[in-house]
Amino acid sequence: MAERTTLHEEAARGLEDARRRTERLTDLDVAELTAQHSPLMSPLVWDLAHIGQQEDLWLLRGGNALAQGRLSAEVEKLYDAFEHPRASRVALPLLGPDEARGYLADVRGRALEGLDGTATTDGRELFAFSMVAQHEQQHVETMTATHQLRRGEPLLGGGTPLPPGRPVAPDDAVLVPAGEFMLGVDGTDEPWSLDNERPAHRVQVPAFRIGRVPVTNADWQRFVDAGGYDEPRWWSARGWEHRLAADLERPLFWSADGSRRRFGIVEEVPADEPVQHVCFFEAEAYAAWAGARLPTEVEWEKACVWDPALDDGRGARRRWPWGGAEPSGALANLGGEALRPAPVGAYPAGASPYGVEQMIGDVWEWTSSDFHPWPGFSPMLYADYSAPFFGGDYKVLRGGSWAVGAPSLRPSFRNWDHPVRRQVFCGLRLAWDA
Ligand code: AVJ
Ligand code: FE
Repeated sequence: MAERTTLHEEAARGLEDARRRTERLTDLDVAELTAQHSPLMSPLVWDLAHIGQQEDLWLLRGGNALAQGRLSAEVEKLYDAFEHPRASRVALPLLGPDEARGYLADVRGRALEGLDGTATTDGRELFAFSMVAQHEQQHVETMTATHQLRRGEPLLGGGTPLPPGRPVAPDDAVLVPAGEFMLGVDGTDEPWSLDNERPAHRVQVPAFRIGRVPVTNADWQRFVDAGGYDEPRWWSARGWEHRLAADLERPLFWSADGSRRRFGIVEEVPADEPVQHVCFFEAEAYAAWAGARLPTEVEWEKACVWDPALDDGRGARRRWPWGGAEPSGALANLGGEALRPAPVGAYPAGASPYGVEQMIGDVWEWTSSDFHPWPGFSPMLYADYSAPFFGGDYKVLRGGSWAVGAPSLRPSFRNWDHPVRRQVFCGLRLAWDA
C-alpha cells in the first residue's frame, strides 16, 4: 500500500461527497428514475450508470476503452454521451436502478483500492480520481436540473436556510482599472484544475466596471414590465428570432401571476434573489435594456481573483475571491442543499479584492465569450471533455451555481452551454466599459 497523503484523503473525500449527493437525488422509485422528465434531460437512471461507466473507464482502465470494463461492451455503449443524445436515452435498454446501483458500488470499491495503491508526492498521479469526482459532481448538478424540470409532488423539500441579504442598488458596480492579469491556472497551483482552465498566462485587460452582485428577480421584473420581451431593439438578431420561436415572455419556471415553481413548490418570486433560468439571449437583451453589457469571461475572472496589492503592488491571483480559505457557508452558497440562490448581499465576507460579491456559488453567470482554448492548451486524460466543444455554438458561464459541489469548482472553472439553454441554474451580472 502506498503512503497515504492528505491528497489521498482529499481525493477519497471528493469521491465520497459526490456519491452521497448522487444517492440522495436517485433515492426514488423505479418510475421516477426511468421516466423522461424533459426532452432536454436524460432519465435519472442513465446519469446514474453513466457516472459508474466513466469511473470504470478512467479509474479502472486508465482510459483504455478497448480494455474489458465491468459491463459488456454493448451495454457500456449505451452510456456514451456522444453516441446517444439525451432525448433518445429513455428508449435504450438501460440498466435498471438496482443493477445500476450494484455496478456503481462494484466500480467504487475497486477505484478506492486503486487510490490506496497509487503512490504520489505532488498529487499528479491522483488527478484522475479528482477528475472523476468532478465529473460525478457535474452530473449531480445535471440531475438537480432534471428534478427542477420534473412535474409532480415535491421530492426534495424546500431547501436549507441561507444568510439574509442586504439592499444593493441594481447599478452598484466596481471599477477594475486597466492592466495585466494572470488568466487561468497551472497544475502546480491548482492540481485538480481541468484542461480548459490551463495554462496560466498574462493578458492585458482594458478598464471596465462590473456589477457588485448578480441581477435580481426584482430587476428582471422591471425589464418584463417595461416590455423588454416585446422590444426587438434590446435583442440581437439571433436572440430576437429565438425569442419569437420559443415564445419567451419571462424566465423559465415563472408564471404570469408572479409565482414560480421550484422543485415542485409554487411560491412567490423572491425579489432579492439572483434571477435564474434565463438563456444567454435573454441575458444579453436585459443587459442592453439596462444600458450595460455582459462581461467577457476574462473580465469576470479578473474581477473574481486578481488582487492588485499582492506581490509588492504588481498584483497576483488569490485562490478564491475572499482569499485562501476553503469555501464555507459563511462565504458562498454551494453544495446544493439550499435548493436556491441566496439573496444579494448575503456574503459580504466573500467579496473579491475589487469588492465584487457572490461570484462563487448562487448562479452560473452568462458571459459574452465563446468557448475557446487558452493559448498553450493541452488535453487531459479525458481528451474529449473540452476539445470537441471549442468553437461550437456555446457561451461560457462562470462562477458556479448553488447546486455546484465545492470540490468541483474554482474561480478558473469554465462551464459552457448553448445560448438558448435555460434549465441550467444560470443568471447574469452586468458590465460596462469604463
Ligand atoms: C461542463 C457541464 C458542459 O454536462 O455537458 C459531463 C460536463 N461532460 N459529462 C456537460 C460533462 C461530460 C459538461 N459541462
Ligand atoms: Fe458525463
